[in-house]
Amino acid sequence: MTDKSRASLTEIEQHWSKSAKAPVDQDGLRPVARDPYLQDVVETAMERWLPANGTLFDIGSGDGYSTIRLSRSVAKTYGFDFIPDFVEAARQNAAREKADVSFNVGSVMDLAPVREQFGQADVVTTIRCLINLGTWDNQRRALDEIASVVKPGGLYLMSEGWAHGWEGLSKVRQELGLGSLYLVPHNLLLERKAFEEHVSANFEIIADGTLGLYLLLSRVLQPLYTAPEAPQHKHLINRVSALMTNHGIGDGLFREYDYAGVCVMRRK
Ligand SMILES: C[S@@+](CC[C@H](N)C(=O)[O-])C[C@H]1O[C@@H](n2cnc3c(N)ncnc32)[C@H](O)[C@@H]1O
Repeated sequence: MTDKSRASLTEIEQHWSKSAKAPVDQDGLRPVARDPYLQDVVETAMERWLPANGTLFDIGSGDGYSTIRLSRSVAKTYGFDFIPDFVEAARQNAAREKADVSFNVGSVMDLAPVREQFGQADVVTTIRCLINLGTWDNQRRALDEIASVVKPGGLYLMSEGWAHGWEGLSKVRQELGLGSLYLVPHNLLLERKAFEEHVSANFEIIADGTLGLYLLLSRVLQPLYTAPEAPQHKHLINRVSALMTNHGIGDGLFREYDYAGVCVMRRK
């Protein structure tokens, strides 16, 4: 089904091509990960699952900073992005950070060239990549493509965007007079039930890293506290919320507000 309020694939590609031109946006934030503390809790939740001797493919690697961080926990890492300027920026960032990561052009919609050149990985990660595919048909195809590059018994760690968490947060924000969250047109969230049905052919879901506490505190408590000033991604409340989340406080709680939770899947 096509949702007319969502951007087309061409518009999405134009958006990311433009974003890749500058390392930070007008607010001084990375365009690929505007909330640095959300990024931190996602990466921390993923790191727990990375095998020290394994190979990692990070797909939709953007400027490469997350890939570089995750690479410290595995033996060999490859990052793939469909925007050549991001691949170039990620290579430069890896060189600066002295990280042994191979960044290459590749699309999550067609991973046959990646499979031919680099084989399969012990772990594949995606962070907010599949939400940039415009339709559920494209997302389903991408999930199948990802399955084709995970070794049997290997893991797929995914933090994308869950519709139920987004709706839950929007509802509580509205009840408290904050207004619903704004979803940018190039994003399409995943419906958990349809997702589970689809991935069950290739994957067993073995765990969920829950980030609901962080999202509740940063998206509800902080704006209530700072009003009438606008909330800030780098606010101290976000920092301490990330600290608590990384220490396992809130683990398994607030799933109804958790749009970024990490789904851990084992390849059948
Ligand atoms: C929100 S950014 C996240 C980047 C990175 N994962 C991170 O968390 O910092 C989304 C990334 O997905 C990439 N992307 C979007 N569609 C893609 C596709 N079809 N194949 C590969 N990468 C894609 C974009 O170029 C962008 O770098």
